[in-house]
Amino acid sequence: MSDEPQGEAFVTIFDDTYDQPDCRAYFRMMDALGYRNQHHAVTAFRAGLTALVRARGLSAPRLLDFASSYGIVTLLMRYRLGLDDVFARYRAPAFDGLGPAEVIARDRDWLAGLPRHAPPLHVTGLDIMPNAVAYGRTVGLFDEGYAEDLGAGAPSPGLAAALGQVDMIVECGSVAQLMPRALDRVLSACGPRKPWVMTSPIRGNERAAAAEVLARHGLVQEVLPIAPFVHRRFEGPEEQARALENARAAGHETEGVESTGHFHAQVLLARPEDEADDPRDWSLPLSVPPLP
Ligand SMILES: C[S@@+](CC[C@H](N)C(=O)[O-])C[C@H]1O[C@@H](n2cnc3c(N)ncnc32)[C@H](O)[C@@H]1O
Repeated sequence: MSDEPQGEAFVTIFDDTYDQPDCRAYFRMMDALGYRNQHHAVTAFRAGLTALVRARGLSAPRLLDFASSYGIVTLLMRYRLGLDDVFARYRAPAFDGLGPAEVIARDRDWLAGLPRHAPPLHVTGLDIMPNAVAYGRTVGLFDEGYAEDLGAGAPSPGLAAALGQVDMIVECGSVAQLMPRALDRVLSACGPRKPWVMTSPIRGNERAAAAEVLARHGLVQEVLPIAPFVHRRFEGPEEQARALENARAAGHETEGVESTGHFHAQVLLARPEDEADDPRDWSLPLSVPPLP
């Protein structure tokens, strides 16, 4: 893990599920806790990617799925399906008795037959959990995958080469905000034309240190003009009390938002100033109706 403080704001860590040989436990945990972040965030990320592709004339944009875990962000960016479809797939009892190799084989076949969004993407997955990254590579989600901790040290030559070509960084889960040293090492390895960075941190997990890192790399950060959306349900009153405190400390009005029993998130976009058009003019919608 990083030597940077994780901070009390970091949501409850579910370590066991984060490094299993296949994705079942992770997606079932997300389903059980009512995760919704990726449903909302990826809609905005895809709108941003479309704007970036147009602005830079890209035909096969290269993405970094930062803190990727099993690659849910890549899955929703690349394929025509929703978070609810993913949860429904792994809820099926047919997955109960399978070994990891069987799940991986089924997932590889399933993904190979799924319709994709245009344009074609090249995705690099980066996470500290080796099994999660290996799963993403084996099933074909990631074109390249690296299990490295840039909070602790410099990228390997392979990762540095991949980062050098990245057009867009996407991240769901607050790591980019809470680990500014890792974010700095990612951006330092990127090419001279810095990528757009789209993230969906929980309200209260925004950090001035992350904004400073982005600014040092010539990126201007803004909050997308969409309503705060559900990240996931609180596990209990103590977690809710902490979240309310953190969100208020960051200047958010929590009544009708975190007070309803859920962590809420927002989408941050950072990009070079000369590419900063108004996201309200983008051709794809920034937001979708919530899932039940
Ligand atoms: C809340 S999960 C989110 C995963 C995924 N993006 C999603 O939306 O489901 C946070 C992830 O950050 C990863 N992580 C923690 N520290 C990291 C670091 N220094 N570099 C890369 N990933 C890290 C964890 O292993 C975990 O997979």
